[in-house]
Amino acid sequence: MTAAIVVAAGSGNRVGGDVPKQYRLLGGKALLRHSVERLISHPGIGRVIVVIAEGQEALAQKALNGLNVSLATGGDTRRVSVLSGIEALAGNQPDYVLIHDAARPFLSEHVIDRLISALGDAQAACPTLPVTDTLAKSDGHIGDTVDRDTLTRIQTPQAFHYAAIRNAHRAWAGKEEPTDDIQVARANGVAAVAVEGDPMLNKLTYEADFAIAEAQLTRTMVTRTGMGFDVHRLVTGEELWLSGLLIPHDKGLLGHSDADVALHAITDALLGAIAAGDIGDHFPPSDPRWRGASSDQFLAHAAFMVSDRGGRIDHVDLTIICEAPKIGPHREKMRERIAAILDVALDAVSVKATTTEKLGFTGRGEGISAQAIASVSLPLETK
Ligand code: CTP
Ligand code: MG
Repeated sequence: MTAAIVVAAGSGNRVGGDVPKQYRLLGGKALLRHSVERLISHPGIGRVIVVIAEGQEALAQKALNGLNVSLATGGDTRRVSVLSGIEALAGNQPDYVLIHDAARPFLSEHVIDRLISALGDAQAACPTLPVTDTLAKSDGHIGDTVDRDTLTRIQTPQAFHYAAIRNAHRAWAGKEEPTDDIQVARANGVAAVAVEGDPMLNKLTYEADFAIAEAQLTRTMVTRTGMGFDVHRLVTGEELWLSGLLIPHDKGLLGHSDADVALHAITDALLGAIAAGDIGDHFPPSDPRWRGASSDQFLAHAAFMVSDRGGRIDHVDLTIICEAPKIGPHREKMRERIAAILDVALDAVSVKATTTEKLGFTGRGEGISAQAIASVSLPLETK
């Protein structure tokens, strides 16, 4: 079995900001989640440990929601954090382990393949890239040029026979803190081989790296649009649930669930954007589980399906069509509620309302209808 350790216990000082960089959003998704998803979805990897800083459990829980990972607690240096991940695997030892920086989001399947296959012959392997710039000594004034052909750039993940890297980390007695695990392995006599690295694996170290990463991500995403439409009958003796809120009114909507026509329209719009059928397929009215169900769970499920495909909700636009109640006084609360269910920013949610000038069933107050459009970005490969 091959396991992976993702170290995410740093403080991200060079990037700065309100949250450590591994929890900052990149394409609407925590930086950490990008590489963790790539590792989990690789068929050669059986188990993923994420090493987080003490006190950041809630941040990690949110960033990794729904993913099958185990957490370990990191320490003051990267080395100590890696060791904690290695020890977390000691009870159920894998054959191989890949050790990766959370700060390198764009991990490709090919790099993982190359690393695992290199471990057939070697105890340790890492992705490398040639140095393409001229290298020189410098103290502000440029000194002698260094022969770049004798040098290489080292990335992560770094791959090891588990026992070899565990023993090396346990035995580490170096004076300088190591910046990677190949150094630790070599210090204990473990030889490492190079496999071809990937420029996309660059580490996000400074603020400017996030702008570059966002641009790279946009090039790998495709925009999809979905629409949703729903109608429910207005009757006396029912509660009126609209956009996830209980609205005071003399009538309410009739349906199998709570009949929240607005959330149903948005749910169908999201399912439409990922071509995943409609709300009836996922929550059949014939299923007693959904009798009286609160519709926010339908919407949250559709949002989960988008993120499960590596997608991101860019925007939803809802129109509620009724004569009464007046939607205006509730509009901001509705936007907030929908944004909370979808876990998106408030400005990604629009709520509008219109009457039909007393025409038709909505005009006569017999029912309420709702229309929604959702824009979603999906990874290019699912196109
Ligand atoms: N890391 C860790 N534990 C530490 C220090 C670093 O798990 N005590 C992790 C980081 O979270 C990151 C990776 O090691 O994923 C590479 O480190 P680096 O890019 O230096 O991240 P930070 O240490 O967080 O950033 P900075 O050095 O700018 O503070
Ligand atoms: Mg650091």
